[in-house]
Amino acid sequence: MFSVRRAAVNLTQKRAFSASASNPYKVAVLGAAGGIGQPLSLLLKLSPKVTELALYDVRGAPGVAADISHVNTNSVVKGYAPGDSNLADALKDAEVVLIPAGVPRKPGMSRDDLFNTNASIVRDLAHATAKANPKAKLCIIANPVNSTVPICREVYKLAGVYNPKTLFGVTTLDVVRASRFISELKSTDPAAEKVTVVGGHSGVTIVPLLSQSNHPDISGEVRDALVKRIQFGGDEVVQAKDGAGSATLSMALAGYRMAESLLRAKDGEKGVIEPTFVESPLFKEQGCDFFASNVELGPDGVEKIHGIGEINSYEKGLIDACVADLAKNIAKGVKFVEANP
Ligand code: NAD
Ligand code: LMR
Repeated sequence: MFSVRRAAVNLTQKRAFSASASNPYKVAVLGAAGGIGQPLSLLLKLSPKVTELALYDVRGAPGVAADISHVNTNSVVKGYAPGDSNLADALKDAEVVLIPAGVPRKPGMSRDDLFNTNASIVRDLAHATAKANPKAKLCIIANPVNSTVPICREVYKLAGVYNPKTLFGVTTLDVVRASRFISELKSTDPAAEKVTVVGGHSGVTIVPLLSQSNHPDISGEVRDALVKRIQFGGDEVVQAKDGAGSATLSMALAGYRMAESLLRAKDGEKGVIEPTFVESPLFKEQGCDFFASNVELGPDGVEKIHGIGEINSYEKGLIDACVADLAKNIAKGVKFVEANP
């Protein structure tokens, strides 16, 4: 009787384990030795879903990898410097590739001011991913996201491997900020504050939909100030860092959340929804064939693009301003690849 009961307990434990066990996933970070890359890689090392971490950078990745590899979780960490087939090896078999490679802003700069430097960095890395591992979910963090994501699409199209379901601009930081800022205003738990943020990732292209939040009552000057803070939260950090870069730690958390959500969806979890900048029909007629909105993720990437839902006339004004800027940012990325494939 005792042994039968123990066998039953063992079976229950085994079932419980297999139900929660995750598949092994490799994740690659390109720009891994940078301000975002290092804490992002550390967070990924803590994820039970990540069994292999490939860290690539033009400088310093082997050192960062050696350091993080001592963290006592089960995943293997490898660092890759440029040369030979190193980048291709880093990318091979990765389920998710995150790209924070590129220069950050200094005070007085817009994200678009980064275009001249970052467009070619992202284009070249996109060529590499298109060749080595076109099926990976490609998550672009490098700014200006509104243009670098279209750049990746054009590169993938040239290579004949474009799949709109697997290309993501990482806009998670905007919702992370929105939930934190609204919780500060209302003295609530930020974990309970879900704010939908749509559009793009810079200034007025960032559109928080406060009417859909827990606090549709926020109005007047308080609303205007909150919206502005969410739209220009990045500038707060750039100014405070005073020339030493932009958001890195909060961004690492946001990038980690995006990667983890993609892996959860790959594992078959249903109802995984993240805001992200993807090829989208929502404002295509207005010249924005990319748009960030809540996106349900599935094993193959984008499963369902949610509409923006009901908005009020104030938010309609925000959307109009967003679309005007965003269309130009997208066109700039497309033209860049046409001229500099
Ligand atoms: P950083 O300068 O600290 O790090 C960038 C890293 O990229 C460096 O280690 C550099 O060596 C590496 N790098 C440069 N060219 C490379 C290449 N061709 N291949 C591989 N690695 C390369 O900058 P950071 O603070 O980590 O920011 C990186 C980017 O992320 C910036 O463009 C910044 O604007 C952007 N960013 C985006 C968001 C967002 O919400 N999407 C948030 C914060 C920052
Ligand atoms: C952010 O939102 O913090 C990033 O896009 C970095 C920046 O330049 O503000």
